[in-house]
Amino acid sequence: MTEVCTTPAVLILLGPPGAGKGTQARMLEETLGLIQLSTGDLLRAAVAQGTPAGMAAKSVMEAGGLVSDDIVLQILRDRMDQPDTRRGVILDGFPRTAGQAAALDHLLADTGQGVSLAISMEVDDEAMVARVSGRHTCAECGEGYHDTFKRPANGACDKCGGTEFKRRSDDNADTARQRLAAYHAQTAPLIAHYAQAGVLARLDAMQDIAAVSRDLARMVQPIV
Ligand code: AP5
Repeated sequence: MTEVCTTPAVLILLGPPGAGKGTQARMLEETLGLIQLSTGDLLRAAVAQGTPAGMAAKSVMEAGGLVSDDIVLQILRDRMDQPDTRRGVILDGFPRTAGQAAALDHLLADTGQGVSLAISMEVDDEAMVARVSGRHTCAECGEGYHDTFKRPANGACDKCGGTEFKRRSDDNADTARQRLAAYHAQTAPLIAHYAQAGVLARLDAMQDIAAVSRDLARMVQPIV
């Protein structure tokens, strides 16, 4: 008998900076119609708007640390309250601490949901530094590129034709190493949390973008 999935999918992409979470989440959003929910993007928007949460987060993000659970959870709850998330979500860069994972479990339990699948995207530490140091995005539409691994075909954005590109202020080697240290200390332990919950899958994210994408699509298929 074919099982019909009635609750929206909740997919977590876990992984260090540069693992490819954002790249793959944007592709999955386009192919599956799930909503990408990146706490990094939400925090950067709060910083740009100069909200109190953004002002509190700014210096922590520039130093490569983790923003407090209180701020991140408030920003996430506000976004989860919007109706489009009922189609199912891809959590990109959340949760990142044991406190955030516990809060997510409670938030989902309130609506009879749970985490559908948590994918640990595994990359070598050295590859991660090279990936974030070469990253840039289209200033117009936000499409992501890399100086070596994903260059725009004709110098203009492949997606919208924009010619302006921007780089993140935290994408330098020193800050990247701080972000990596924060990942190993506070986020990597969540792999065991989701393994224990029976929803963990591991993905070799050292492969090229297309191969990671193929593996990911195969893993995600059963939950959508
Ligand atoms: P955030 O924006 O989430 O950054 P991050 O986790 O450090 O992740 P990245 O965006 O750097 O990497 P990614 O895995 O998305 O890689 P991408 O696909 O872009 O967080 C920023 C900051 O906000 C944090 O440091 C923290 O301060 C704060 N924050 C955010 N969430 C928080 C939370 N929940 N709690 C507390 N604080 C929080 O790829 C990187 C590059 O590599 C790109 O150029 C891409 O083209 C390339 N690439 C991708 N895949 C491949 C591949 N397979 N092969 C070769 N190149 C590839």
